[in-house]
Amino acid sequence: MRVGAINREAVSALTYVPPDARELAGPWTASDGTTLWIRPIRPEDAPLEAEFVRRLSPRSRRLRFMNALRELAPQQVERFTHVDPARELALVALGRDGQGREEQVAVARYVVDSTGRSAEFAIAVADAWQRRGLGRHLLGRLLAAARRGGLESIHGRVLAENAGMLALARGLGFAIAPLPGEPGVRRVTAMLDVGAR
Ligand SMILES: CC(C)(COP(=O)(O)OP(=O)(O)OC[C@H]1O[C@@H](n2cnc3c(N)ncnc32)[C@H](O)[C@@H]1OP(=O)(O)O)[C@@H](O)C(=O)NCCC(=O)NCCS
Repeated sequence: MRVGAINREAVSALTYVPPDARELAGPWTASDGTTLWIRPIRPEDAPLEAEFVRRLSPRSRRLRFMNALRELAPQQVERFTHVDPARELALVALGRDGQGREEQVAVARYVVDSTGRSAEFAIAVADAWQRRGLGRHLLGRLLAAARRGGLESIHGRVLAENAGMLALARGLGFAIAPLPGEPGVRRVTAMLDVGAR
């Protein structure tokens, strides 16, 4: 997915209402009892975000960024951690490493497009945390925030080989469609029941 590459173009007729940051923070406990803290990303998370991407396996990095990126450039770290709350949301999951230091173990984000009605999302979970329910939980939180914010839909670009992400999206009710001219990529789209916010 290319969420980090989206231009910060002027947003016309923006109908999106940013969620209250206080509603977005909270704990999440894995089935083994480990508790993570989830909250909106902050500028001071830059070192954690950079380290998170650096420590992803090459495969996970390729699936997330759709290229062979090894680490984020400083401008990308800045871009990913200085979000514009009027049209972006990024939730990080934080835990403790073996030495008790805080570490980022996942991030899920969306950027509202210029119509103000839809957003593109991206998500990445640290390899050691994959297949433990965190991706489903984070994406669910993101969808709930998008719905409360009045968005009609949320979509993402997923490599066709990314069976895990496609299964996760399908399980959350996303429709999966080919992208014309991009045989290796799928577009996943979730319609949000705005009336339910
Ligand atoms: C794709 C990704 C976000 C999934 O997150 P996750 O925390 O591992 O997913 P979850 O544990 O919440 O899985 C939820 C469901 O999705 C499906 N799923 C997730 N990973 C899967 C895999 N590797 N193979 C098959 N199904 C998978 C399963 O249905 C799973 O439910 P189950 O474990 O009860 O069977 C994570 O693997 C990841 O970050 N991958 C690398 C980056 C990436 O691909 N990002 C997506 C950008 S397009």
